[in-house]
Amino acid sequence: PRFFDYRNGTLFAEDVSLTRIAEAVGTPVHVYSAGALRHAADEFRAAVRHLPGARTAFAVKANPNTAVLRLLAERGYGADIVSGGELRRALDAGMEPAGIVFSGVGKTDRELSDALEARIGQFNLELEEEGEVLARLAHGRGVRAPSLLRVNPDVDAGTHGKISTGKRENKFGVAIAEAPAMYDRLAQLDGLDLRGVALHIGSQLSDLAPLEAAYRRIGELVFELRRRGHTITRVDLGGGLGIPYHLQDRVPSPAAYGAMVARVTREWNVGLTFEPGRVVAGAAGILLTRVIWVKLGATHPFIIVDAAMNDLARPALYGAHHRFSAVSAGRESMEATIAGPVCETGDTFGVGQAIDRVRRGDLAVFHTTGAYGAAMASSYNCRPLSPQVLVDGADFTVVGDRMLPAELVA
Ligand code: LLP
Repeated sequence: PRFFDYRNGTLFAEDVSLTRIAEAVGTPVHVYSAGALRHAADEFRAAVRHLPGARTAFAVKANPNTAVLRLLAERGYGADIVSGGELRRALDAGMEPAGIVFSGVGKTDRELSDALEARIGQFNLELEEEGEVLARLAHGRGVRAPSLLRVNPDVDAGTHGKISTGKRENKFGVAIAEAPAMYDRLAQLDGLDLRGVALHIGSQLSDLAPLEAAYRRIGELVFELRRRGHTITRVDLGGGLGIPYHLQDRVPSPAAYGAMVARVTREWNVGLTFEPGRVVAGAAGILLTRVIWVKLGATHPFIIVDAAMNDLARPALYGAHHRFSAVSAGRESMEATIAGPVCETGDTFGVGQAIDRVRRGDLAVFHTTGAYGAAMASSYNCRPLSPQVLVDGADFTVVGDRMLPAELVA
């Protein structure tokens, strides 16, 4: 199904025309499709739910909007969080504490205490000292913290360097060679209920091979830990599945991923946790913007839109591509460079691209912005955070307000 599509020449989100949303809410605005979220959420769940003890924890960092989290909670998702703020968001959205996983390489004592207080279901430990601190905090409360040890499997995820996390030189997890001895020591602590291991090797993976290689290493570790007398009941396989950003991109389907996991983990005899972010939320959002100027340039015209790198940081940060289309379909195209109003040359969404011909005042969208879009927004250049809208069938709701000038100053 296509949740963002043209009807009589105008781009719609489900049954709502984007022109109507722009008139009601203004631009720039992040627009999500509830149908697309449900579709992707259910597709991923369907691919893994037959696996033993499968739990899906949505990576809140990809899209922390409360309405989005509520919808995902209804579809059976827990939350993978990395900060006290994300804990707050997940709880506010009504997520079950037992379904919350706390990842993150720098959890403060305060954050660990708050998560213990909330009785979350799983802590992913990033280093031995974190386990010791958590054990002490838990012991002081008379509880045992359900925990996994995050291991760095040292594989190259083959993705952008800034979002690779499973190479030995990366800051994440403990070296796989040191994991068994460390596990022995941590397992003795009263305040920990150590249940197994976790990994996450990177994001926007377009190939299953690095994931499979990493999972095989983790499988060997599970058996090694059992040989040392540990009871291993859970393995957290992380997130990372990529999505198409260009029309021609080919990425593995959730079903292919689920089949690979089934094959690799067949003998493990553990419950599996998944932490998908992008594959659930990415295609469910667009960023709606208006053309402010079409400006003469040395090589190509500049399309200056009212959305900028503060609304969508991925192009500036990673050189990422987000398809651009006009809301009013025209048959003509043009070659242009699309840029935002922020005072940096890096505030560019595409250079010399063939795009729909647009004029001053036209509406247009950047596609596939539902993950790491609004989530990474800032108020750089004193641009207020843009609003967020959730479309469901013929209805739409503002689920995030445009920041007011007074709020920006405060
Ligand atoms: N679990 C952990 C421990 C993670 O660090 C991440 C993402 C995920 C799960 C979810 O990964 P996903 O399924 O979404 O690939 N801002 C970057 C992406 C950063 C990803 C960070 N970690 C971007 O816009 O491409």
